[in-house]
Amino acid sequence: MSRGDKKIILAPSLLSCDFYDVGKQLELLKSIGLEYLHLDVMDGVFVPNITFGQPVIKSLRKKCDMIFDVHLMITKPERYIDDFFKAGADIITVHYEATDNCRAVLENIRCKGIKSAVSIKPATPVSEIFGLLDCCDMVLIMSVEPGFGGQKFMPDMLDKVRLLKKQIAEMKLDTVIEIDGGIDMTNAAACINAGVDILVAGSSVFGKPDITAAAEGIIRAAKGKSI
Ligand code: DX5
Ligand code: ZN
Repeated sequence: MSRGDKKIILAPSLLSCDFYDVGKQLELLKSIGLEYLHLDVMDGVFVPNITFGQPVIKSLRKKCDMIFDVHLMITKPERYIDDFFKAGADIITVHYEATDNCRAVLENIRCKGIKSAVSIKPATPVSEIFGLLDCCDMVLIMSVEPGFGGQKFMPDMLDKVRLLKKQIAEMKLDTVIEIDGGIDMTNAAACINAGVDILVAGSSVFGKPDITAAAEGIIRAAKGKSI
C-alpha cells in the first residue's frame, strides 16, 4: 500500500492545549475529522512532571466523544486501571518500565473491554516487549524522553518501529504502532514510512495559532504531499 492510500491517524496531545479553551479546541479538531485524543497522565515520580488525572478525563468524557487514548506515565499503573477505565478511557497505555508485571496489567485492561497498549522509553530496546505483543492492541514508541512536550524528535526511534513492524508481521498480529514525541510536518512521513499507524502531536498542533491548519498540515505531510 502506498503512503497516499493509507489513512493517517493523528492524535493531538492535550498536554499542549490552552486549558482555558479546551472544549472549543476539541470541537475544532473534530470538525476536520480527527477521531483520537491523546491524554498524558504524569505523576511526578515515573516522570519529572505532573499533569492531570481521572477527574479531568471524566469531565471531558461527558461532552467529548473522541477516542480517548490515555497515556499513563505513572509508577505502578495497576493501581489506577479501574479508575481510568471508569473515567472513560478507550485505550490505556502503560509503560513497560513502570510496573513489575506488565502482562497482568495489559490483560486487566483488555478484560474491561477496552484497548491495551504498552510503551517504552527511548533507552528500552523494543525486543523487550516482543513477549507482550500477544496481550496488547497497540505499542507506543516514545521518540523523546517522556515527561514534557516540545522536545526534539529522536530519529533513531524509527529503527525500533521497523523492527517492531517486522515482529508483528512474523507473529501474524494486527498490533497498532503509535509514536509520541517531537512529531511535526518534517518527520511525519518518515514515521509513516517506517510503519507507524498513529502519530501523536502536541506542540506542533496546540502550540500553533491555527490548530486545525497545523493538524491538516501534518496529515498532508505524512501522506508525502507538499507542505
Ligand atoms: C511527552 C508526552 C507527549 C507530549 C508530546 O511525554 O507523552 O504526548 O504531549 O508533545 P510534543 O508533540 O510537543 O513532543
Ligand atoms: Zn503521550
